[in-house]
Amino acid sequence: MSQPLIVGNWKMNGSLAANVELVQAVVAGLPRVTARAAVCVPTPYLAQVQALVAGSALCLGAQDVSVQQSGAYTGEVSADMLREFGVRYCIVGHSERRQYHRESEVEVALKAKRALSAGITPIVCVGESLAQRQAGETEAVVKRQLAAVIHENGHCISEIVVAYEPVWAIGTGQTATPDQAQQVHAVLRSQIRAATAHPERVALLYGGSMNAANADELLAQPDVDGGLIGGAALKAADFLTILRAASR
Ligand code: 13P
Repeated sequence: MSQPLIVGNWKMNGSLAANVELVQAVVAGLPRVTARAAVCVPTPYLAQVQALVAGSALCLGAQDVSVQQSGAYTGEVSADMLREFGVRYCIVGHSERRQYHRESEVEVALKAKRALSAGITPIVCVGESLAQRQAGETEAVVKRQLAAVIHENGHCISEIVVAYEPVWAIGTGQTATPDQAQQVHAVLRSQIRAATAHPERVALLYGGSMNAANADELLAQPDVDGGLIGGAALKAADFLTILRAASR
């Protein structure tokens, strides 16, 4: 693995004024950080945040991309459009999109493909619901979700990022224990190893109530290469604490 990667997922939060304050504070703290850092922002703020991160080590990301290339798809945003705004990363298959927008495994895999073909690194989210965990299906669920992406993307799979986000841990304050995270990450790592000759290129992020207080022990796990951070990415001090934890 190269440097750990910490990505903020702002979800549907922010405003022109709040974004300036948040991004400027994060950028100001980056000189003390060696981990790679990115923020995935709502689409209307891409141009603003592109300008705010210019010349810094903070990378720009998006939260979704269309499966279509262009054309009559009202409301959709294409990978090529994202690329025009300097987007480096794009989250695909977040559980909130799988749940609220009924995104299928095939769609998620196609979104990853669109991102890759525009030169954008897809951050592919996988994760089980509480019911699936309680039924002992965690491993099967995450493997099936990742398998769909591997199937569609072939050897390009070495260019993706994978985020394990247990649905029951997102926004709940209930984090997976370091052992629980490591167990699933080890499963995903071996699946990636079997799929590419360059598994070391694929960062495996943990997401789900990761915060300034618990980042250290999660990031200390051998197969946790970084984090996908929701709520704690909206506070510069917390986001920077996580970035520093990843820089040790
Ligand atoms: P929280 O960190 O708010 O739990 O959100 C995690 C997440 O969904 C990141 O994509």
